[in-house]
Amino acid sequence: MTTKGIVLAGGNGSRLQPLTGAVNKQLLPVFDKPMVFYPISVLMLAGIREILIISQSEYLPLYQKLLGDGTELGVRFYYASQDIPAGLAEAFLIGRDFIADDPVALILGDNVLYGEGLPKVLGDIVHSSQGATIFSYRVPNPQEFGVVVVDEQGRPVRLDEKPAKPQSNQAVIGLYFYDSSVVERAGSLKPSARGELEITDLNRTYLDDGLLSVVALGRGMAWLDTGTFDALLDAGNFIATLERRQGLKIACLEEIAWRKGWIDDTQLARLGETKRNSRYGQYLLWLLENG
Ligand code: TTP
Repeated sequence: MTTKGIVLAGGNGSRLQPLTGAVNKQLLPVFDKPMVFYPISVLMLAGIREILIISQSEYLPLYQKLLGDGTELGVRFYYASQDIPAGLAEAFLIGRDFIADDPVALILGDNVLYGEGLPKVLGDIVHSSQGATIFSYRVPNPQEFGVVVVDEQGRPVRLDEKPAKPQSNQAVIGLYFYDSSVVERAGSLKPSARGELEITDLNRTYLDDGLLSVVALGRGMAWLDTGTFDALLDAGNFIATLERRQGLKIACLEEIAWRKGWIDDTQLARLGETKRNSRYGQYLLWLLENG
C-alpha cells in the first residue's frame, strides 16, 4: 500500500484574466518557480512519490515539458486531463485507475502551504490512512470557503459549502487525504446546483460514516491561495521575503528529493548545471557544498 497523490491543476482561472488567457493558472510564477511546484512539494514532503497531475489536455504537454516523468527527481509523474472544471471530486473519477486500491491525497494546484513541522504532520497522516483527513484554517471570510464546525474534542460535526451564515471561521483548505473507498464514494455523488461534483459532499460521506478527521492548522502555518491578482502577488512576496531572509528555498522540488534521499549528489549537481544561469540552479549547486 502506497499513498498516491493528485494535483488538480485545471480550472478556468477566470479571476486572473488576462494572465490566464494563454496559460493555465498553475503554470504562472509564484516568485521564482511555477505555482504547481508548491502543491507538488507538499505531496513530496508527505513522502508521496507517485503523483498524478490533472489539467486541461491542451496544457498537459506544458506540464510534461516542465516536469517530465519524474525520474530526474526520483518520483513518478502521471498526467490526465480534465477539460471542463466539473468539480474537485471529479479528480477521483479521472484518477480511478491511477489510485487503484491505494489511499490518495488530493491537493489543489493553486494552494501554497508552508510552515514549521508540516512534513511531520503530513507523514503521520500518510501512515495512519484510515477514513479521510481534512485540514482547517482560520479565515476572516469563511463564507467564501467550505467551512467545518467541530465539537469540543475537535471532532467534525458539520460541513457547509460557502455558507451565507458560517457557523465557524474554520475554512477547509485544498489538501485532503482519503482511503481507497474515495473512488466509489466520488462515483455516487450527484452534481450540485452549480453543476460540480463537490468535495464538500464527498467529505460529508466520510463525516456521516464517522470516518472524517480534521487537523486544525494554527497561525504558525501559512496557507495562501493564489486565485486573484492580490493573492498571487502576496504569495510571491511572502515566498520572496522568506527565501531572501533565510537563504533557503521553499518548494524546491530538487532539494526535497535530495534531502529525502530519492536522488544523490551527482543527480542534484546535474539538475543544478542545467539551470546554472539562474539563481535557482545556483542554489542547487550551493546545496551540495553547504546543505
Ligand atoms: P477555483 O479557484 O475555484 O477555480 P479556478 O482555478 O478555475 O479560478 P477562477 O475561479 O478564477 O475561474 O479552483 C481551485 C483550484 O482547483 C484551482 O487550482 C483549479 C482547480 N480546479 C480544477 O482543476 N478542476 C475543477 O473542476 C475545479 C472546480 C477546480
